[in-house]
Amino acid sequence: SVSFVPNSHSSRLFLPSTAKVGKTSLIMSLVSEEFPDVVPYRAEEITIPADVTPERVPTHIVDYSGTLSSLLFCIKCMSWSYTCHLLVLIQGCLCVSRVPLILVGNKSDLVEHSSMETILPIMNQYSEIETCVECSAKNLKNISELFYYAQKAVLHPTGPLYCPEKKD
Ligand code: GTP
Ligand code: MG
Repeated sequence: SVSFVPNSHSSRLFLPSTAKVGKTSLIMSLVSEEFPDVVPYRAEEITIPADVTPERVPTHIVDYSGTLSSLLFCIKCMSWSYTCHLLVLIQGCLCVSRVPLILVGNKSDLVEHSSMETILPIMNQYSEIETCVECSAKNLKNISELFYYAQKAVLHPTGPLYCPEKKD
């Protein structure tokens, strides 16, 4: 999942998630328009200039390596269902900060069927989730779209507005 912290001059996109889902690969595929064979744990923090973004707002992308992994590691070990795992991840993100989220299903090249049917009811449960998207850093499928949805989520959120003082 990807979360966003808006400010008046730019949008900041954070990529907290479980380990090895392809966060760094997604950023590198976006930047170089090809799938990297070798990836560092973290991509350098980058700023996409305003004139190449659809909303004309500079966008900082901040990578994380294995964020929330201590929380999620327990979940993985306990072999909970995918849905449950996802719910814990979402609640973990919202606990840290109430910011717009989008759910990203990377590595779509490895599966034959879409998991949108499973994801949509979850999305409808949380107003902070602005959208969900299936993509592949490997096939470059939906990569620029994903970052566009991300930027749109922070600039025009439909859910509750971000407020740093209110973290109830
Ligand atoms: P951490 O920083 O360790 O949390 O991992 P990460 O989420 O940044 O994942 P990373 O980009 O390092 O990718 C993990 C592995 O998944 C690597 O072996 C990538 O080559 C592979 N990978 C990433 N994206 C895709 C994809 O779209 N399709 C496939 N088949 N493999 C992918
Ligand atoms: Mg990484």
